[in-house]
Amino acid sequence: MDLIVCSRALAIRGVILTVFLSLWSQQISAQVSVVPIPKTVMVGENVLLSVSGVTGTILLFSWHKGERSTDKNQMLNYSPNTTPPEQIEEPYKGRVRVFPNCSMEILGVNTNDNGSYTVSIQTRGGQQQQQQATVTIIVYEKVSKPNVTSNLACPVEYKDSITLTCVTTNTTQIILWSKDSQKLPSDDRTSLSQENRTLTITNVSSADSGNYQCEVMNSVSHSTSDLYTLTVCSSGTDNGSGSLPGWAIAVIVIAILIVVALIAACVYYFLLRDKSKSNDISMKESTLNSRSDPHLRSSSKNPATQTGEEVNYSEVTFKPGALKPTQPKLKENTTEYAEISRT
Ligand SMILES: *[C@@H]1O[C@H](CO)[C@@H](O)[C@H](O)[C@H]1NC(C)=O
Ligand SMILES: *[C@@H]1O[C@H](CO)[C@@H](O)[C@H](O)[C@H]1NC(C)=O
Ligand SMILES: *[C@@H]1O[C@H](CO)[C@@H](O)[C@H](O)[C@H]1NC(C)=O
Ligand SMILES: *[C@@H]1O[C@H](CO)[C@@H](O)[C@H](O)[C@H]1NC(C)=O
Repeated sequence: MDLIVCSRALAIRGVILTVFLSLWSQQISAQVSVVPIPKTVMVGENVLLSVSGVTGTILLFSWHKGERSTDKNQMLNYSPNTTPPEQIEEPYKGRVRVFPNCSMEILGVNTNDNGSYTVSIQTRGGQQQQQQATVTIIVYEKVSKPNVTSNLACPVEYKDSITLTCVTTNTTQIILWSKDSQKLPSDDRTSLSQENRTLTITNVSSADSGNYQCEVMNSVSHSTSDLYTLTVCSSGTDNGSGSLPGWAIAVIVIAILIVVALIAACVYYFLLRDKSKSNDISMKESTLNSRSDPHLRSSSKNPATQTGEEVNYSEVTFKPGALKPTQPKLKENTTEYAEISRT
């Protein structure tokens, strides 16, 4: 008959030898222990809960989820003398493997497998009739890249508070923040909450502008977010005291320039309209004079009329609705005179 012995997996024949070995192992082995292999478990990996230090002949053992061995949290039991020796509870069927040396392997762990496991062993001829050991496994996820979000795009200086959030899908981990690749400045306006998930800066000042980043990490991995550029805006309306931002000054300057240009255009329009009226009048007069009045030449003080050169009078025309008056077109190589006469 084959006996399965935990820990050293010894096949023993003969009563005297069994008694001798029991006494010997009583002296050298303290108690049952379980270690997870590997020590750090990632989601999707297998983990062996390896049992050692069992004394005596195993009659029955069982595995339980948690720190106690009750019927309610039992995962499986194993008795070497039955066929098949193992009985695995429904949620664990196909997910665990059990070995004659009391060890259990969990296949493809997930975050729900995180926690403690207890093995309970009944032996004959051992140190104790009932031996028990508990192991805790911590299942780690590889952290995914976090993302920084903000509650305000453009917080107003000396007025707003801003909250940056490190958005991460992962659970237990360390979150660290940096500003412009440096540690966060520690002042009483800056605070971290929700296990460092949120960074709040009250009463922002322009010194808070910069590139913020969060880094999430656990024992097996770490990942850093892209930069979040925080821009603190100055207030233009706050009590009328703060200095204006550049864009507001530019708008005001442009508005003033437009008004000045409009006034100038109006003034120019009215001045030239008056001028063109008097030009029209003097042109009519001179035309009349040159045709009918023979003593015009002697009375005229105009040198152009005396030398017989061609005389052009400028005429200003306006298109209704147009801002600028159209310039009169002049012929080249001619002399132009404007004459304003009183009536
Ligand atoms: C128990 O058995 C398993 C499977 O054979 C083996 O991998 C493991 O190392 C054994 N544990 C001990 C403590 O001998
Ligand atoms: C995993 O278990 C450990 C120890 O029991 C606990 O501190 C941790 O919060 C657990 N993690 C998760 C993700 O449940
Ligand atoms: C915000 O900070 C400015 C400058 O330090 C200070 O004058 C002002 O009183 C602060 N406002 C509030 C609401 O704390
Ligand atoms: C929170 O951040 C501080 C440094 O700012 C760090 O010392 C601490 O370990 C972090 N805590 C967590 C739970 O991430």
